[in-house]
This record gives sequence, C-alpha cells and structure tokens, in this order.
Amino acid sequence: MRAAVIHRFGGPEEFEIEDLPTPTAGEGEVVVRVTHAAVNPLDFKIRDGSSGMAAQLRDEDFPLVLGRECAGVVHEVGEGVTDFAPGDRVFGMAPPDHKGHCYAEFVSMPASALAHSPAGVDDVVLAGLSLVGLTAWIAVEDLAKVGSDDVVLVHGGGGGVGFMAVQLAKEAGAKVYATASARNADRLQAVGATPIDYARDDFTQVTPRPSVIVDCVYFDTYEPSMDHLADGGRLVLLPSLADVRPAKERGIDVSIPRVAPDRTRLDALATAVAEGRLTLTVADVLPLAEVAEAHRIVERGHTPGKIVLRVAGE
Ligand SMILES: NC(=O)c1ccc[n+]([C@@H]2O[C@H](COP(=O)([O-])OP(=O)(O)OC[C@H]3O[C@@H](n4cnc5c(N)ncnc54)[C@H](OP(=O)(O)O)[C@@H]3O)[C@@H](O)[C@H]2O)c1
Repeated sequence: MRAAVIHRFGGPEEFEIEDLPTPTAGEGEVVVRVTHAAVNPLDFKIRDGSSGMAAQLRDEDFPLVLGRECAGVVHEVGEGVTDFAPGDRVFGMAPPDHKGHCYAEFVSMPASALAHSPAGVDDVVLAGLSLVGLTAWIAVEDLAKVGSDDVVLVHGGGGGVGFMAVQLAKEAGAKVYATASARNADRLQAVGATPIDYARDDFTQVTPRPSVIVDCVYFDTYEPSMDHLADGGRLVLLPSLADVRPAKERGIDVSIPRVAPDRTRLDALATAVAEGRLTLTVADVLPLAEVAEAHRIVERGHTPGKIVLRVAGE
C-alpha cells in the first residue's frame, strides 16, 4: 500500500511516499481502506518531535505513518469483531496508545475506535470530525460543564476544535463569544456566536467576564484569560503540554482535555452533522502526495477549518 512516512523527526520535507506492507486485522481490530485522512496540529507536533506522544516512539516505529483520524471502508475484520463487516463505511480516530497510521491506503484500528458513517455525510467531512468533535465535547461538557447560565469565550473559534466548542456551547444554551480573525466572523455568527476580531479588538475590553474560557490558542491568550475569567470560572486549555500551574496558583479551575475515541459520542457527532445541527468546515482537500504542503498550512496556525488528505483514488 502507499503511505506517507517519515524516517526521522523534522520538518514537512521529511515526508516520503513509499510502499509499505498492507496491515492485517488482529483480534478486535478492523482494517480500513482509507478514502480521506485529516491533518491535525498533533500530527506536526509528532512529526517534529515536540509532542509528548513523540517521546513514546522508538527507533523500530520508523518509518512512521502519521495521521490520527480517517474515514473509509472496512476492508477486513479481525477475530471477535461483530459490529463491522467488509464494505461498511466507517470513520474514527486512533486511541492515544496507537501510533495513528492514517496517512496510508489502509490502517488497522481497534473496532472500538470506529463508528459507522451516516448516509448523506461525505467522507471528506467525517475524516476530520472525530478528533476535534470529541475534544470539544470533553472540553465543553465534561470539563467546563457548560450550561445555559454560562457565558463562554472560545479562543480560536474559527479553528478545528474551537468551531466545534462554539457549537456545543451554544447547544448547551450558553451565551458564546469567540476570538477569531475577521474572515471567520460570518461562520461564527451563523452558528450563533459573537465573533471578536483579535487583530482589532482586545477581548478583555469587548466581552463580559466569562464563566468559562476554552482556550484553543494558549500562547497569546493564557495570561489575559486568567485576568478576565469571572471569579469561580472554569478555564480549559487545549494544548496537551500547556502549563496549568499559573492558573492553579491563582485558584482557577483549570484543565486540559485528553481526547480518546468514544463510539457513542462519534455516533452522536455524525448524526448531528447528518441532521444539520453541527457543522464541520473543511478548508481544503489535498492529495496524499501533497502531505508536506498540508502540514505547512496547518502549522501556520490560521486554517479556517480542517485540512483533509485525499488518499483513495490517486
Ligand atoms: N488536548 C487535546 O486532547 C487536544 C485535541 C485536539 C487539539 N488540541 C490542541 O488544540 C489546539 C487547537 O487545535 P485545532 O485543531 O483547533 O487547530 P487549528 O484548526 O489550527 O485552529 C487554530 C485556530 O486558532 C486561531 N488563532 C490563531 N491565533 C489566534 C489568536 N491570537 N487569537 C484567536 N485565535 C487565534 C486561528 O484562526 P484565525 O485564522 O482566526 O487566526 C486558527 O483557526 C492545538 O494546540 C492542538 O494541538 C488538543
């Protein structure tokens, strides 16, 4: 099978398209023929070695196939798998202890990490739904426990996680503000949020003190967010390696999501997309061979939605 691999940590130029053995399905696993795989910031942080996940990798893991989520068709099921059959359309994300491997024509995943794809929703969308959808769900519901009395501020509301967090907070009944560049304003308004153009306005001056801040940006936003958060408020920081100590020292309820696959939630997210209650914006679709360019785009940090790789049909 064709796969995008890296032989060592480094820049986007490390990617090579190579032929690798097609994986087989072990017990409890499903081999998916990948149609599309999404690119996430985590992928470039593993590629350049800066992610905590990169530290777990050993020499024998290289050449390494990156990519933590995909959509496609079941190719083979392993022993004990009863909920999927060859030919089923599926989507999902690799669990934290899985190497990922989605930038390839075939990937073997635990069956529990996958869900059936609903009719009427394209694989281009489903490929990028799992990681941002589940992360935003954990952030908004499990950690921040957003309810209808909350005023929520989402930093990076135009990005992958941020746009999901905005919509889930709205669904919970909260009043939602979102910092984003001006080109994302219409999209945010369309889902009921008040956009704040961070290049023009200081969010601490133009929003009320929020009871919840979901910070998908962190570097520029962390300090002023701590000052601006209402007393007793909840702060959710997105980067896995974010330093929670300054917030804890100030007595702030601070947390970081630890995303992992969850079939029930994947089903609910896909149903919400199918029914038009949840929108995932796909900013661009590139062929697998252009994976280096896809990483450059995501790494610049201003992607208005998901960057997706087209794997099948090349
Ligand atoms: N903890 C977890 O389990 C977990 C899971 C998923 C992701 N993450 C992390 O969450 C972060 C966001 O991921 P993502 O997939 O949403 O990234 P993304 O799609 O690249 O979105 C980032 C967004 O931030 C916006 N932005 C940049 N600078 C900003 C600023 N100063 N103020 C406001 N917005 C700004 C950009 O939009 P503009 O064009 O509007 O500037 C961009 O849309 C990453 O660090 C990622 O690694 C963590």
